Amino acid sequence: MAPPRIDGDKVLLRPLVHEDAPRLTGILNDEAVRRNLRLERPVSLAAEQEFIAALARATDEVVVGIVARPHGRLVGVTGLHHLGDPARQSEFGIFLGGPEEWGKGYGQEATRLIVGYGFEALGLNRVWLHVHADNARGIHAYEKVGFRSEGLLRQAALRDGRFVDVVSMAVLREDWRPASR
Ligand SMILES: CC(C)(COP(=O)(O)OP(=O)(O)OC[C@H]1O[C@@H](n2cnc3c(N)ncnc32)[C@H](O)[C@@H]1OP(=O)(O)O)[C@@H](O)C(=O)NCCC(=O)NCCS
Repeated sequence: MAPPRIDGDKVLLRPLVHEDAPRLTGILNDEAVRRNLRLERPVSLAAEQEFIAALARATDEVVVGIVARPHGRLVGVTGLHHLGDPARQSEFGIFLGGPEEWGKGYGQEATRLIVGYGFEALGLNRVWLHVHADNARGIHAYEKVGFRSEGLLRQAALRDGRFVDVVSMAVLREDWRPASR
């Protein structure tokens, strides 16, 4: 599935290319970013290059880079995964980095754009996500876009050798309207 190019006010979503791999490897290996993701180990440049190459062949996910308009650099990645689900639901994922790029509204806008694409262009009925329960920034951003918490998954993730709780959140097509953008 060809990844879309979507223009927003603060960010631009665009397909990832091979040359993005070093930048993404650096972001993902920033401990401040990684501790919020399901990544127990550092990622290698080769693995990131393979990840980007595989996206071009993927039929069950749409993954795009997030470019910050103010300076034009790639600041993260967002995507919709498991698109083949017969219940027309998909898992949303996102990361931005480093921390100097957080709190500028990039995450909320990127989320709105890709989730809107999922409902409008891909015909999804439900988009869900899992977020570490102590990721207050992420949870707040997702709520503002229209996600609602559906429950706490106790000790469902591992971080620094310890189990941590995870919040399950989702937004339904019937709740997705311009007011939630
Ligand atoms: C989570 C993430 C995608 C959010 O993107 P972002 O661009 O930083 O978020 P935004 O600026 O769009 O929105 C953050 C909101 O949370 C608020 N916020 C920041 N810190 C907060 C805190 N400790 N508690 C509650 N709210 C907080 C901000 O004020 C803002 O809300 P506002 O628009 O009402 O002012 C981004 O920070 C990130 O990628 N972090 C590292 C990796 C990660 O956590 N990925 C998600 C895994 S599920």
